[in-house]
Amino acid sequence: MIILAIESSCDETAAAILRDGEKLLANVVNSQIDLHGKYGGVVPELASRQHLEDIYPVVNSALNQAGITLDDVDGIAVTQGPGLIGSLLVGLSFAKSLSLVKKIPYVGVDHMAGHLFSVFLSEKKPTFPFVALIASGGHSTIFHVTDYSHYSIEGRTRDDAAGEAFDKVAKILGLSYPGGPIISKLALQGDPKAITFPRSWLDPESLDFSFSGLKTSVANYVRQNQHLTSSNGADARTPIETANICASFQEAVVDVLVGKTIKAARKFKVKNIVMAGGVAANPRLRERMHEQGSENGLEVFMPPTEFCTDNAAMIALAGFHRFQKGAILTLDMDVYSRCAIAGSK
Ligand code: KG4
Ligand code: ZN
Repeated sequence: MIILAIESSCDETAAAILRDGEKLLANVVNSQIDLHGKYGGVVPELASRQHLEDIYPVVNSALNQAGITLDDVDGIAVTQGPGLIGSLLVGLSFAKSLSLVKKIPYVGVDHMAGHLFSVFLSEKKPTFPFVALIASGGHSTIFHVTDYSHYSIEGRTRDDAAGEAFDKVAKILGLSYPGGPIISKLALQGDPKAITFPRSWLDPESLDFSFSGLKTSVANYVRQNQHLTSSNGADARTPIETANICASFQEAVVDVLVGKTIKAARKFKVKNIVMAGGVAANPRLRERMHEQGSENGLEVFMPPTEFCTDNAAMIALAGFHRFQKGAILTLDMDVYSRCAIAGSK
């Protein structure tokens, strides 16, 4: 079965071609980072207009890369939500049009399920059941996963998502968008113990997250240490001061993400941990999750970094399993903006 997948939930227009649920024939991602960078975050109206311009060339280029035409496609998988409504609509409408004109069935894929199963695109695959941490710009969520169609939310952020905290702290420090890759790079030169930023553990049993206090703490630290900001608005920090803030902030995020994921694995008595989503591209988080996983007798699985940030390959894979279940959509199906996966929270 050949699947064409389309992803347009935020600021990446992406298309992928997957054969028989495992052989990736094409993976094209067109990022809008340059468009949104100067605003310090994604501007929804600009994002949907850009998707409109990019969707046809991106899908076309995936078909070309795979060396196939639409006549070879057996099914279309498209991100239905959660995400920006205007952006999602571009992908869904495009998928519906292709489905109608070429008479190809299509399925809707939850973006979070895409991240959740992106790990099956790697060589090293986990076995069910497992606990998964999905940390991205919109979510910091812990799932208990028993198979491709059964996964429950066991913890989620009560305010900012981990990636959102990286992006907001980058803005506070005058760095560009998206903040995650920039902060993680600067953190390499810094001391993670230089500044003690708070870790929000919430109540002892909770698997929820909270990152807004940490972000405020970084803002207060920068404001209170007057030499770190200059009166004329120019950046008065030395590179090492910036690196220390980045490393100390990153360590606080990593401590909580790793700590709560290990706690969840113990609670559900699983042997495997999965980590995915844009923040899972963070080298320090990857290193610490592996370290602490093995200290606790747990095996840790994560996709290569190119499949951590938004892509359509993960939508193709999750879509393949939707097709196996016969979850084909009708033309009146709509997008949704908020998380639709049921959970115990
Ligand atoms: O999964 P993703 O591409 O899109 C969403 O579904 O949100 O995640 C994007 C988020 C952004 O907040 C970005 O700053 C963060 O992932 N991110 C990182 C890194 N690379 C991307 N955060 C920390 N360290 C990184 N290396
Ligand atoms: Zn995502």
